[in-house]
Amino acid sequence: MGYDEISKNSRSITSGNWNVLYWVLGSICLPVVMPLVLLNLWHRSLIAKKRKHLPGKVVLITGASSGLGEAMAHVFYKAGCKLLLAARRLEELERVKNDLLDLEIVGVAYPPSVLQLDLAELNAMSRFAEKAISIHGGVDILINNGGISVRANIINTALDVDLKIMTVNYFGSVALTKAILPSMVKRQSGHVCFISSVQGKFALPHRSAYSASKHALQAFADSLRAEMSNKGIKVTCISPGYIRTQLSVNALTSTGQIHGKMDKATAEGMSAEACAERILTAVLTGDKDLIICNAQARIAYYLHFLCPSIYFWIMANRASKLEKED
Ligand SMILES: NC(=O)c1ccc[n+]([C@@H]2O[C@H](COP(=O)([O-])OP(=O)(O)OC[C@H]3O[C@@H](n4cnc5c(N)ncnc54)[C@H](OP(=O)(O)O)[C@@H]3O)[C@@H](O)[C@H]2O)c1
Repeated sequence: MGYDEISKNSRSITSGNWNVLYWVLGSICLPVVMPLVLLNLWHRSLIAKKRKHLPGKVVLITGASSGLGEAMAHVFYKAGCKLLLAARRLEELERVKNDLLDLEIVGVAYPPSVLQLDLAELNAMSRFAEKAISIHGGVDILINNGGISVRANIINTALDVDLKIMTVNYFGSVALTKAILPSMVKRQSGHVCFISSVQGKFALPHRSAYSASKHALQAFADSLRAEMSNKGIKVTCISPGYIRTQLSVNALTSTGQIHGKMDKATAEGMSAEACAERILTAVLTGDKDLIICNAQARIAYYLHFLCPSIYFWIMANRASKLEKED
């Protein structure tokens, strides 16, 4: 075969390759990728448009003294909201408030208010709600975020610990929501958010009371959403996976002591800031139910209802491993 023939063959192979590439681009990539790109652009412009309605909105965040609550305080403050920051530790709330006041904000910013709240004090909730409402004349967005976790197996856990976790994580948020809700119904507007957990979708061993409280919160949110659907009030339930916060450090042991240790999974979790940004977007778009987690948690979530026997087997192994570590 002469040089000319080889070069002609290689030119036709090259042009053949280009034809295949054009065909792949034209027939597969463009029809699939273009709509996705356009959808993404439309979603971004929708969020930007909705963001313009946030300045001046009154946002009450429980558990605003650390972790996810603190991160949400930052994103809602930067969006121009009037913040009501609630938790037990006033000095930590003041620190968060001062950090916010030190930020250089482009656009409108309102000084946050700090309110002491113990979610375990159910009888004090109406008084707390009255005080919170009186500051700006109402609450537009209530974010039920404050909570505690547990690190203990069921057999050794004192019932008081189960009660404490259910009270803070479930009844505390329920009592606060019920205390704020009438004023929202009267104004025919408002948004109630619940920070649940992926453990509100599927339970883990050594987290019984925590998982149970989050399952209860999810059910409460679902009922509330249905009941409020014709009253102009939105309800969002957010289920994050592991977030890098103090949750495991502040968790209770079987006797109600502070666990005091950072879990590996929590330390390797998503940042509270990224989660808070995603929650702000969910509030803007009015998401009803949102899971924010990595692939591993998402697989567990799907296994739980698509293939429960595999999920039960994985959890049994996990429980045996935890028992050996104790
Ligand atoms: N970190 C995670 O991996 C993860 C994953 C999914 C969901 N979540 C949820 O995210 C929420 C925030 O937790 P975090 O991760 O940010 O943990 P964190 O850093 O320990 O923050 C917990 C917050 O809850 C407040 N709190 C605890 N007990 C309270 C009580 N009795 N009354 C009022 N406030 C109370 C704490 O404030 P004071 O101590 O000042 O009262 C603190 O501000 C929780 O509901 C948690 O279940 C966390």
